[in-house]
Amino acid sequence: MTKPLDEKIEAGVEQLLQQMTLGEKIGQMTQVEKNSIKPGDIAKYGIGSILSGGGGNPEPNNPENWRNMVNGFIEESLTSRLGIPLIYGSDCVHGHNNCVDATIFPHNVGLGAAGETDLVERIAAATAQEMMATGVRWNFAPAVSLPIDLRWGRSYEGFSQDPAMISEMAAAYVRGLIGGDMTTGVLPSVKHFVGDGAASWGSSTRITAEQWELIESDPTLANAKVGEFMMDLLKIGAWQIDQGVSEIDEATLREMHLPPYAATIAEGAMNIMVSYSSWGGFKMHAQKYLLTDVLKGEMGFNGFLVTDWEAIDQIDDDFYTAVVACINAGIDMNMVPFNYMRYIETLTEAVNKGDVPMSRIDDAVRRILRAKMMMGVFDQPICDTPLSVVGCEPHRELAREAVRKSLTCLKNENAMPIAKDSAGLLVAGRHAHDIGLQCGGWTIEWMGGAGAITSGTTILDGIKEAVGDTAEIVYSEDGEFAGAKAKTAFVVVGEEPYAEGMGDRSDLHLAADQVEMIRKVRQNCEKLVVMVLSGRPIIVSDWIDEVDGLIAGWLPGTEGDGVADVLFGDHPFKGQLRYTWPRSMGQIPLGTDDGDPPQFLPGDAL
Ligand code: BGC
Ligand code: BGC
Repeated sequence: MTKPLDEKIEAGVEQLLQQMTLGEKIGQMTQVEKNSIKPGDIAKYGIGSILSGGGGNPEPNNPENWRNMVNGFIEESLTSRLGIPLIYGSDCVHGHNNCVDATIFPHNVGLGAAGETDLVERIAAATAQEMMATGVRWNFAPAVSLPIDLRWGRSYEGFSQDPAMISEMAAAYVRGLIGGDMTTGVLPSVKHFVGDGAASWGSSTRITAEQWELIESDPTLANAKVGEFMMDLLKIGAWQIDQGVSEIDEATLREMHLPPYAATIAEGAMNIMVSYSSWGGFKMHAQKYLLTDVLKGEMGFNGFLVTDWEAIDQIDDDFYTAVVACINAGIDMNMVPFNYMRYIETLTEAVNKGDVPMSRIDDAVRRILRAKMMMGVFDQPICDTPLSVVGCEPHRELAREAVRKSLTCLKNENAMPIAKDSAGLLVAGRHAHDIGLQCGGWTIEWMGGAGAITSGTTILDGIKEAVGDTAEIVYSEDGEFAGAKAKTAFVVVGEEPYAEGMGDRSDLHLAADQVEMIRKVRQNCEKLVVMVLSGRPIIVSDWIDEVDGLIAGWLPGTEGDGVADVLFGDHPFKGQLRYTWPRSMGQIPLGTDDGDPPQFLPGDAL
C-alpha cells in the first residue's frame, strides 16, 4: 500500500540531518502564522513552514501580493545557515479560496454529490496550479471527514457519509494535487486524523467548562469577554460538536473513519493533519496509539504529522507537559501558530532534559525533509507557474462543470426544465444573487461572508445570460413581486456562511423569513422551483409539499452559471445524494430513528 522510499532522497535526508543542530531540527518542526513571524526569525531559527489561517491574506488581497508575500518568506528561509526552503501552507479547500479572484469550486459536499473522481482530480490539479502561481505549495486539504451529526459546522467539508466513496474521492483529490511526482504539484494535508466527523453534540471542548458556566451565570460579563457575535452564535448551537469527543468503538473507527487515510497514503499523501477531537480518553494530538502505532506503524505512513491550529495548547494547562505528550505521541510539526518562541524553547528544554528522546526529533525531521525533497523545493524553491492561471477561464469553466454536475434534484413535478422563453421568469432570494452566500465558509475570510467578496458569476447573472433576450427576468431579493403572475418562479434560499464550530447549529430548519418568502412567491406563479444553498441537508418537511421542484445546490462557489446550465435543460441533473437527508431534527445524528423514514436517502435524486 505505502509507496516505497526513494534511495536517493533518503540519502539526501540523512546527509542533511547529520549537519543539523538541535535548534535547526526544532525550527523545521515549527509552523508559524504569517503575521506572527518576526523579520529575521525564519533565517535565524530555520523555520520549517509559514501558514495563512482562514482569511490570512496580504493587504490588499490579490494574487500578485500573495505571490510576493509567500516568495518573500521562502527567500528568507534560503538565507538560513543550511538554506532549507520553507513550505507555505494554506487551506485551499475549494480552490485557492483565501485569494481574491481565484477560482472557487463547490465545497466537498457538492463534489461528493457530483460523484466523479475524474472531476475531483481535475479540480485538485487546477487548485494546485493557482496555489503554485502564488508560491503556496502546501494545501490543508482534503478533509476526509465522515459527518455523522449534520448539526456539525464542518459537514460540508465531507464528500459523503460512505467511507468507500470518501476514500475514492479523497484519493482522486490527492492525485490531482500531487500531479505526478509532487515536484510539479502541492503537498496535500489529509485531515483531520481521525474520526473528526463522529464527535457528539455537547462534547466540544473548544469552549471550556468555566466559560460555559460564565455564559450561563453572567451573560453580560461573558458577552464582554467573548464578544456579541460569538455570544449570538453560541445561543444557536456554535461549538457544541466541533473539537468534541468521538464516542465510537475501535471497530467503528477503523471501519468508518480510517479507510480514506489508507487510500490517500497509497496515493502518496505525505502529510496528515491531526484532529482537535478526542477518542478513547485522549485528545487525538496525544493519542500515541493511533498516531504512532496505527498510522505510522501498522499503516506504514512515511510522511509527517502536523497539528491543527494551536492544538497542542489544548492538551494540558501546563505547556511543557502538553508539548512532551504531543511530540512523544508522534506529532512531527506544530502549527503553533503565534507564540513560536515559547514552543521552540519548551521543546529544546524537553530534549535537553531527556523527556523527548533525540530519536523522536530525528524521526520527525526526517519525515519533514523527506516530504520537502520529494516536492523538489531544494532544486526549485520558487515556483514559476504564471500568475495568469489564477482565476483563468479554463478553471472557471471547470468550476462551472462541477456546479452543474453537483446539483441534486430532489423533487420535480413537471416544473423543470424551465423553458427559456417562458414569459417572465421570477427569481427570488438573496442567495440567487450573492457571490459570498453561494461560496459559503472558507472563502476570502475564515467564516466567508455575504456580498461581492470576490469575482464570479451569481446564479442570477447566469440565468440572465442563458435566457438572453428571449424572456424577461424579474428579480426580487425578498420575493416581493407586487401581484405579478408568472408561469415559473425560481427561489433560492439557504444558510449564511460559516466555518468549523461557529457553524454548529441546534436547529437545521430554514430561517422563518425564508419560508415566508417561499410561501409569498407561491402566490405569483404556477410552478415553483426552490433551490437550497447549504452546507448540509436542512429540514424541508414543513414546506416541501408546497413546491413543485426542489434542488440541493450545496455551496457551488464562484461559478453560478452552472445552475442555469441545468435549470433550462441544456444539461441533465447529475448530482446524487451522499448524505441521509433527515425529515426532522429527531432523526439527527445519523441512525436516530424517530419512527418516520428520512426525507431522502443516499442515492436519491431525480
Ligand atoms: C484562523 C483559522 C483557524 C482558527 C482556529 C482563525 O483565526 O483564521 O484559520 O482555523 O482561527 O481557531
Ligand atoms: C482548522 C483546520 C485548518 C487550520 C488552519 C484549524 O482551525 O481546524 O482545518 O487547516 O485551522 O487554518
